Amino acid sequence: MISILKFAVLMVFIASYSFADDYVLNRKRFPPNFLFGAATSAYQVEGAWNEDGKSVSTWDNTTHADPDSIADGSNGDVACDSYHKYKEDVAILKETGVNHYRFSLAWTRILPTGFPDQINQAGVTYYKNLLRELRANGIEPFVTIYHWDMPLTLQERNGLLNESFIDWFADYAAVCFDLFGDDVKIWTTFNEPKGTCLFVVPNNKTEGSLEYICAHNVLRAHAKAYRIYEKRFKATQDGRVGIVLDSYSFVPGSDSAENITATETTYQFELGWFANPVFNGDYPEIMKSRIGARSRAEGRKSSRLPEFTEAEKVALNGSADFFALNTYSTSLVVAIEDPPISYPPSRDQDMGVTNYQPDEWENSTMNGMKVAPWGIRPLLNWINDHYNQPDIIITENGTPDNTGTLQDVKRVSLIQSYLSYIRDTMEQDGVNVIGYTVWSIMDNFEWTQGYSQKFGLYNVDFSSPNRTRTPKLSAQYYKNVCQTRCLIVDDYGCID
Ligand SMILES: *[C@@H]1O[C@H](CO)[C@@H](O)[C@H](O)[C@H]1NC(C)=O
Ligand SMILES: *[C@@H]1O[C@H](CO)[C@@H](O)[C@H](O)[C@H]1NC(C)=O
Ligand SMILES: *[C@@H]1O[C@H](CO)[C@@H](O)[C@H](O)[C@H]1NC(C)=O
Ligand SMILES: *[C@@H]1O[C@H](CO)[C@@H](O)[C@H](O)[C@H]1NC(C)=O
Ligand SMILES: *[C@@H]1O[C@H](CO)[C@@H](O)[C@H](O)[C@H]1NC(C)=O
Ligand SMILES: *[C@@H]1O[C@H](CO)[C@@H](O)[C@H](O)[C@H]1NC(C)=O
Ligand SMILES: *[C@@H]1O[C@H](CO)[C@@H](O)[C@H](O)[C@H]1NC(C)=O
Repeated sequence: MISILKFAVLMVFIASYSFADDYVLNRKRFPPNFLFGAATSAYQVEGAWNEDGKSVSTWDNTTHADPDSIADGSNGDVACDSYHKYKEDVAILKETGVNHYRFSLAWTRILPTGFPDQINQAGVTYYKNLLRELRANGIEPFVTIYHWDMPLTLQERNGLLNESFIDWFADYAAVCFDLFGDDVKIWTTFNEPKGTCLFVVPNNKTEGSLEYICAHNVLRAHAKAYRIYEKRFKATQDGRVGIVLDSYSFVPGSDSAENITATETTYQFELGWFANPVFNGDYPEIMKSRIGARSRAEGRKSSRLPEFTEAEKVALNGSADFFALNTYSTSLVVAIEDPPISYPPSRDQDMGVTNYQPDEWENSTMNGMKVAPWGIRPLLNWINDHYNQPDIIITENGTPDNTGTLQDVKRVSLIQSYLSYIRDTMEQDGVNVIGYTVWSIMDNFEWTQGYSQKFGLYNVDFSSPNRTRTPKLSAQYYKNVCQTRCLIVDDYGCID
């Protein structure tokens, strides 16, 4: 139960934030089977970077060799120390009352060489213990197989740009299904492969097509893993497999035909690039035609966008049992003159449109993450319309601050607003949103931002060896949402 004092505090911030504009929060209770959860990923929370047989990942390598590439020079060597404190993690998840915990497996902890020639028993035991602890507390595990932490052994072989990556990943995924599949009913193969291919792959801008090659390997690796699960594990384990894709909400900058067309093009390049192969069996037509035409104009014999074989299309087509979406913000799309052919080519020029976030929108503490929760409704409708009304699970949503304050009223307001627009979309547009996952249950290592940006419902004291977890106001608020399935904390509450 939330104390009377907490209720009073909640009332005050609701009055001051949530009703700041004309939008009226949705008072309809979420359905009983709607899934509320929270997320983390291995490198961002586990620590124990070199313990118990774990090998080195690209993130261990980069943070150690080039600390200047991280905003505060930090690394994930200890992070939240979840490797040793997983019981504390499960305790705060339980306290929050979530249905599910989304976390990822560290490839380097399970297969230190990167290959299945050697399985590291200590790493396996860690994840088995975590899964057992979750089950014992009635929390459903949602497991991401690969969340950005590439084994260095594989990066030395060119990582995602090596076509052999398809087999490396499929072998690793099969090991995970085999070892953990009895306890896992929701799997996702990759987290945000677009970000992986645009920013994490050491890119050669000269060639200008490496992101397409990366994506091509990721997509085929995903399909191969999906089909392995379907053939070898589905009958006995009865789980569902998907892939976590990320997108902004894109909204036309004006209601002109040009800006509306530009918005469709943006969605196809940003989300359709991965979603269309997985749900419809091939790259979007607009990507094939634009990249093909520009490649010819550059004097190339073939398109810089690779083609799938017929067999690959069949394997990809329908290779996700649900649509897993990470989304954090909204952007306005503006049509521009088609960029002239220039060297080197770039994905931005291939897309040939632009987008921006107006100055007057509320800032968060990170670039590109302005507060515009209303965008989720057109985004969910776009997914619903283009991918045959899939079950949609929001696998990440949240907002950063740079203080870790316990009175995180802006985070409460953002979560409340997003959920309200999601509820509107379910109710008024009939879109099948089946779950929502807050990023994150606790403050953690935010990649190149280090510990300078904090997304947690729980504050973590990174200066204490105990890494003490302390609930913020948002933890209290989200706990109330999980308990009541209602977004509004006042005398009237929700209607069923
Ligand atoms: C390890 O990190 C250093 C410094 O950033 C980099 O030069 C090197 O390429 C990295 N190794 C691999 C295999 O990515
Ligand atoms: C790609 O992987 C294969 C198989 O492991 C390896 O033989 C080859 O050298 C790798 N390519 C590069 C560029 O590292
Ligand atoms: C990028 O690719 C071009 C063309 O293949 C090559 O000449 C150049 O050396 C590469 N640059 C890097 C940094 O790998
Ligand atoms: C597209 O929207 C922007 C505002 O975001 C506007 O400035 C521009 O004129 C619009 N373009 C067209 C062709 O309507
Ligand atoms: C994918 O499957 C659907 C439904 O079976 C089919 O209509 C569509 O043509 C397939 N896509 C491709 C690219 O083969
Ligand atoms: C957001 O930050 C930018 C740059 O610091 C500033 O110009 C703008 O006024 C801010 N917007 C709001 C709504 O505070
Ligand atoms: C860490 O936790 C231990 C055991 O609860 C406690 O005795 C100790 O004072 C804590 N240390 C700090 C720095 O919080």
